[in-house]
Amino acid sequence: MALKRKDLLGLRDITRGEIEEILKTAETMKKVVVGPNKKTSHLQGKSIVTLFYENSTRTRLSFELASKYMSAVAANIAASSSSVKKGETLIDTAQTIDSMGTDVIIMRHPMSGAPHIMAQHVRSSVINAGDGTNEHPTQGLLDMLTIQEKKGGFEGLKVAIVGDVVHSRVARSDVFGLTRMGARVVLAGPPTLLPAPGCELPGAEYAPTVEEAVEDADVVMALRIQLERQKKGLFPSVREYARFFEIDPKMLSLAKPDAFVMHPGPINRGVEISSYVANSDRSVINEQVTNGVAVRMALLYLLTRRDA
Ligand code: CP
Repeated sequence: MALKRKDLLGLRDITRGEIEEILKTAETMKKVVVGPNKKTSHLQGKSIVTLFYENSTRTRLSFELASKYMSAVAANIAASSSSVKKGETLIDTAQTIDSMGTDVIIMRHPMSGAPHIMAQHVRSSVINAGDGTNEHPTQGLLDMLTIQEKKGGFEGLKVAIVGDVVHSRVARSDVFGLTRMGARVVLAGPPTLLPAPGCELPGAEYAPTVEEAVEDADVVMALRIQLERQKKGLFPSVREYARFFEIDPKMLSLAKPDAFVMHPGPINRGVEISSYVANSDRSVINEQVTNGVAVRMALLYLLTRRDA
């Protein structure tokens, strides 16, 4: 039980076997997350650092808890309060952390490709915790664990992903991972927030309307409009986004009766998802968060065992 790779930078090149190994290990780790004794020795003697250049609640905290549940030495650094503010470069910051004896560095950065650059300059394993609009592989894997738990597998499932696809690193990782495992992923959103012609995500289908994407879906995923990655004044406004793309009970009624709703978080109630749907028993948003800790435990374990 180990991954042969040094780093996890994305799901674009991940194999079916690797996904199966990660999800199987995460199922075991989940027993620790939901059980009464949250202490194992899987990472005894290992050193894990999170380095975040963007804000986070779920990803950063779940990596920290995952490390601590498995007895690693865990530390966090936010770029906003570090020597990055004095002009230190990404590579110098990475090599400074690496020189302290770390085994894994987990990084979030606003620039697509930043973790890939870092991985070339450090001995530690690097996990991409979200890079610009490129990928968020651990979110993709926790979404896959959630779908597998609910549906028993992926083959032939229709997964609708709705909203601001073009800025969503989650959508990209989900498309790569889910289609690799045999699911259909159907995307819909405002034309200005879908990949431009010629830049479509390989393997994904594009529906002309959100209703067609959601119709007969097994899983419906709502995406937040990422205003922080947009120029001001672009179409649609938040009000228009809510009017045409919100997953509310009427929209959800188009999906299969046993379909469930996912969201990577943070959610904006009344914009991309109604409060009624978010609070309903069709929503698995909190299960996604729990599975995030389990998946990150599995990855830390599997990456640090590659030389074992
Ligand atoms: N889903 C996700 O990445 O959430 P955070 O930004 O809170 O980490």
